[in-house]
Amino acid sequence: MIQLNSSTLNKIILISFFFYALSSCQKPLEKLVTEDTIIEKKVDSLLSLMTLEEKIGQMSQVRHFSDITDEDIATKFIGSVIHTQGPTPGKDAEEWQARFITLQKKALSTRLGIPLLFGVDAVHGQNTFEGATIFPHNIGMGATHNSKLVQEAAEITAIETQATGFNWTFSPCIAIPYNEKWGRVYEAFSESTELTEEMAIASVKGHQGKLSDSSTVMATAKHYIGDGSTDFGIEGGNTSLNLKEVSERLLPPYRAAVKAGVGSIMVSFNAMSNKAMHAHKELITDTLKTSMGFDGIVVTDWKGYSRFGKNDIINAGVDMVMAVDGDLAFFQNGLKKGIDSEYVAMERVNDAVKRILRQKFRLGLFKNPFPNASLIQQIGSSEHRAKARQAVRESLVLLKNQDKVLPIDKSAKKIVVVGEHANNSGLQSGGWTIAWQGVKQNYKGATTILDGIKKIAKGDVVYDMDATGNHLDADVAIIVVGETPYAEVFGDIGDGNGTYKLSLSEKHKSYIQNYSNKGIDVIVVLISGRPLVVTPEIVQTDAFVAAWLPGSEGDGIAEVLFGDFNFTGKLPHSWPKYEKDFEGTYGPNFWNNTITPLYEFGYGLTY
Ligand code: BGC
Repeated sequence: MIQLNSSTLNKIILISFFFYALSSCQKPLEKLVTEDTIIEKKVDSLLSLMTLEEKIGQMSQVRHFSDITDEDIATKFIGSVIHTQGPTPGKDAEEWQARFITLQKKALSTRLGIPLLFGVDAVHGQNTFEGATIFPHNIGMGATHNSKLVQEAAEITAIETQATGFNWTFSPCIAIPYNEKWGRVYEAFSESTELTEEMAIASVKGHQGKLSDSSTVMATAKHYIGDGSTDFGIEGGNTSLNLKEVSERLLPPYRAAVKAGVGSIMVSFNAMSNKAMHAHKELITDTLKTSMGFDGIVVTDWKGYSRFGKNDIINAGVDMVMAVDGDLAFFQNGLKKGIDSEYVAMERVNDAVKRILRQKFRLGLFKNPFPNASLIQQIGSSEHRAKARQAVRESLVLLKNQDKVLPIDKSAKKIVVVGEHANNSGLQSGGWTIAWQGVKQNYKGATTILDGIKKIAKGDVVYDMDATGNHLDADVAIIVVGETPYAEVFGDIGDGNGTYKLSLSEKHKSYIQNYSNKGIDVIVVLISGRPLVVTPEIVQTDAFVAAWLPGSEGDGIAEVLFGDFNFTGKLPHSWPKYEKDFEGTYGPNFWNNTITPLYEFGYGLTY
């Protein structure tokens, strides 16, 4: 037997402890490496079995109606199904799940049984499903400056998205809007690159969690890149920003999203110095994939293949094509020809397919391809709505509070509430709510601003929708005005001769006039997807609140107006003063200090 003295023994214990510590430190790292390595091995071996038709099929995304028959899922080897506008997959969540289960079974019946990805524009809650919890649009989430809340909202959205049968959301939009004339300002968090970076990370983490869980979904950072910085704020226009500014102001949120593990990135409709982004190899392959190390899926936007350069977009680095609305055969045949003629290299196709398979493995779809039925009961639950109501409260920005008219006294004898936006959850929610362009009527499960006021006020609450002025005996007038819902190009303001303007409509201006300077406290709540030029109206009124597009929990607004909660929201955009400030290419250009805003980024009063 070997005799050990105590100092040798101590040394041995120390050394063994060192090795033990080292090995236990290494465990998570080893595990990670192993999981990724295993996935890569599976991807490679599956790819090696695939025919060209199966590969092109994986790169195809279609709608669940019109574009395909159910059989096509199998015969055309479809990789992904999208639901956005158009007929819903069923009347309730059970039917939505059942519809996608049917399609998934078709995919699984193929030779290699590769499961489908189901994608949806769940951009502020699972907004395509009536009865889901609808959060404030991202501009309101940006106003909260609360990334923890953004993460929690994304977690809830992921649950409700999975509950309706999807495993992929086309969210978050991490644009940096330069011009309030753009119709998609509200889809983005902020004009600030730093704030958008922070929110992008939170949103990706919230949606994706541990990607293989059955209550999380793959997120999409969109629209890469320059969507919000087109000249004159035109959706899908051209941006003339130089690459230095693109790199400094637009790319950081993408770098952050990639670092946070975002599973997919959607290419933008716009051009970059007149080159279509979909066909921009330097920005897609060199910058995003090679230099940032993005290993997920680059997906086109709507009909990206036929609109932006056909096989050039594949060569630029696009992996999956939204081959919708008549594009499927055109894409599948076109790519086949491109490969046959060697215009598109097989290597490029293999890279695209690997990325798609990789995400399918990461999502755990080969093990568990079906949605989780037990999540259905959580759609629109009171816990989820309570979180959305918190988001509504925290998104409100108090711009003016003269003579401290806010908070409103709960015992005020009579309160008059004015404006169609006060009593209409469709109007308060903006585009991408129930329908693509939003709705103009109340929808299931939502509460209105008026509902909230009625719940809290102890005295009389009268609703004077068109501001007849018949209630001048009231103590307080709460006037709710703003924009009507729009999405994408339909919300562009352009030359200002279209439907939308950067100021209030004459009708809404008259609502304010009819109650101002009549001895009543006048409080305006502005519902809008962007800051509007309301300089004269702010002067006319006693208090002014920017409420953005709050979503389904409209009653949360009253909780702040009556002082149950303080204001905490801060402007996510500089607030413009004059319409003439928007004459230039990029609108007011506050960042170059050429124009002074009415209120600076970050402004917001409290009680
Ligand atoms: C929009 C995208 C959206 C896609 C799918 C496009 O028109 O630009 O943001 O994800 O449609 O609905």
